[in-house]
Amino acid sequence: MTDSIETTKLGASAADIAEAGQRLAGGELVAFPTETVYGLGADATNDHAVARIFEAKGRPSFNPLIAHVPNLASAEMLCTFNEDARRLADAFWPGALTLVLPLKPNTQISSLVTAGGNSLALRIPESTTAQGILQAAGKPIAAPSANPSGRISATTAAHVFAGLNGRIDAIIDDGPCPVGVESTIIGFDNGATLLRAGGIPVEALESCLGKVLQTPEKNAPLSSPGQLASHYAPNARVRLNATEARTGEFLIGFGDIAGDETLSATANLLEAAANLFRVLHIADAVGKPIAVAPIPHTGLGLAINDRLNRAAAPRDS
Ligand code: TXA
Ligand code: MG
Repeated sequence: MTDSIETTKLGASAADIAEAGQRLAGGELVAFPTETVYGLGADATNDHAVARIFEAKGRPSFNPLIAHVPNLASAEMLCTFNEDARRLADAFWPGALTLVLPLKPNTQISSLVTAGGNSLALRIPESTTAQGILQAAGKPIAAPSANPSGRISATTAAHVFAGLNGRIDAIIDDGPCPVGVESTIIGFDNGATLLRAGGIPVEALESCLGKVLQTPEKNAPLSSPGQLASHYAPNARVRLNATEARTGEFLIGFGDIAGDETLSATANLLEAAANLFRVLHIADAVGKPIAVAPIPHTGLGLAINDRLNRAAAPRDS
């Protein structure tokens, strides 16, 4: 699959933090501590860098990622805040809270971060080291927990190193994470809703809002199998493993199959992942049924095929 790369161990001195920021801004993968767990960071505006996160974690699907920013001003450049969101942000940021909010237009956030959807998960971490890195990078940083897919989250640099050595460019070691569990995630699609329990207790959030949080079960059922409402699903019918376009179809190519648009003319899976949601949106905008060339079931191809299978799954309506 991927060739092993050298993973540089950094401390948390001012010089190390500056280096981490520079590496992130340059498209590298850098694991860093937050107060909750270690995150595997990449420039959230760089498709290729974000695709590398999925490759390094060996994630078999494209879950959307949390974008980390240093302050409310940066958060407000990316998302629209309703009254509840603003209240929670004022009370709990910086801290172990993630808010899923409508993404503003033209933000440059990679569509791999939102899984092609129009909401973005945002967090302002409190850790001084994380803050320093975000300031130094000068970009929103996408960061899932820094563990291989299916393993437990990393709360020390040693955990990160054990799981991801040779797959990421650098690790900032600043000791164990004080909170030790991931952030609490709140969404607002149908009123303030608890999407994941985490570092900030539900009671504290409810008392701040003066009301009970919804739970996803109470909300509308999801529209297609395994499909989070926030993920992007094309309107058009999608046919997979197509070696050529049938009459009236828009063909998404890969490798030798050129198509109307290609995921990667050189059959590069990293490039294909980086292009996936953008190309699906282009195809959908054309309004024709979509056909997609075969994608190998290896490496990032697993996540690409998972996403394409969901896009092609029959829908109820
Ligand atoms: O404490 C944390 O939250 C850590 C640190 C590094 O910040 N990050 C973390 O990320 O736990 P991750 O990727 O392991 O978990 C993020 C969760 C996923 O379950 C994902 O589905 C959800 O957030 N999520 C991200 N964006 C979303 C969106 N736009 N809509 C709904 N859920 C979203
Ligand atoms: Mg995780």
